[in-house]
Amino acid sequence: MAANKKLLILPGDGIGPEVMGQVQQVINWMDKRRAVTFDVETGLVGGAAIDAEGSPLADATMEKASNADAVLLGAVGGPKWDELPFEQKPERGLLRLRKEMELYANLRPALVFDALVEASTLKPEVVKGLDIMIVRELTGGIYFGEPRGIEDLPDGQRRGINTQVYTTNEIRRVAAVAFELARKRGKRVTSCEKANVMESGVLWRQEVQKLHDESFQDVALSHMYADNAAMQLVRNPKQFDVIVTDNLFGDILSDEAAMLTGSLGMLPSASLGDPDKHGRRQALYEPVHGSAPDIAGQDLANPIASLLSFAMALRYTFDLAEDADLIEQAVQRVLAGGLRTADIMSPGAAKVSTVTMGQAILRQLDQMA
Ligand code: NAI
Ligand code: MG
Repeated sequence: MAANKKLLILPGDGIGPEVMGQVQQVINWMDKRRAVTFDVETGLVGGAAIDAEGSPLADATMEKASNADAVLLGAVGGPKWDELPFEQKPERGLLRLRKEMELYANLRPALVFDALVEASTLKPEVVKGLDIMIVRELTGGIYFGEPRGIEDLPDGQRRGINTQVYTTNEIRRVAAVAFELARKRGKRVTSCEKANVMESGVLWRQEVQKLHDESFQDVALSHMYADNAAMQLVRNPKQFDVIVTDNLFGDILSDEAAMLTGSLGMLPSASLGDPDKHGRRQALYEPVHGSAPDIAGQDLANPIASLLSFAMALRYTFDLAEDADLIEQAVQRVLAGGLRTADIMSPGAAKVSTVTMGQAILRQLDQMA
């Protein structure tokens, strides 16, 4: 008997509540039409939480997040809170979630929908059918390593220092996430570092290989220097299934891969931490985009990034691959039918609002299920 499916929805600010409203509709649809029910709670995060509760993430909400099987977040931030000191800003709410849930693996898929092939700057044959996943280590590496800082030298120069540090445990736990994902996908992992010039890269390569040989021999593992991976991503991205890499290289490679696909309004993400006693990892799913204050409150936002983030939750937290496929296919068909929100508008397509796009996807789901 599977454990309960506990979701915490944190809509946040700006377009966050608008796009998460559409996710809620799909959850309601699943409760009615699929053999699954979710136990859904909602809470406040970011500016919305500052205004109502005096802090960007209340302790009670943090506790609910830790106890949920998956947290679904919209976006945080906006001009209203820009003048607050750094420690009190809406973004602190998101940072607290990531830190206290210890979300060390950031998953960024690059998925190209047939109907949007033309939106890519690359040739259609290079990106058509693309479906890759970048797993970026998120809590270690050079963004956090000590020593760091800027210091004065005796000769009057100054020196800036950052340090790349990885322990075996930090490498193994993120690599385990990548191998597990590969098992649910194309069964291939490419691990990227610069073992040719960095000792931390040598250790990375050794530990990923060891973990593979011990526990994941059913997944094909290859190693690639990160600079070569950057080239391969634009030359022939379809050669990859899952890429696992460190925080710095992952920051760059995941943004590069994202742009193979087109618009910010289409990009989902997940951040995963350690498994609980049921084997379910701490998990936060959110669109890559922010709160888009320029279009907030106007029913213009593209809800697809958030809907695809929910599909990732179905696939990776709840093992509901069929339902995840269903949502992705519904999105695919609605796009193929020519509906577009403003951000992905193309000549000859029909421009629709957030709500209309959400409803069209629901209607499509109705026809498919
Ligand atoms: P943004 O992602 O909010 O917007 C960038 C541009 O993309 C805007 O022109 C926006 O209208 C458009 N856009 C974004 N998402 C869209 C969608 N779903 N549909 C249609 N168009 C979309 O990034 P920006 O402008 O740099 O930041 C705005 C606010 O969001 C800031 O307060 C920032 O701190 C916050 N932010 C929050 C993030 C989060 O919650 N994870 C991530 C990035 C920014
Ligand atoms: Mg980045």
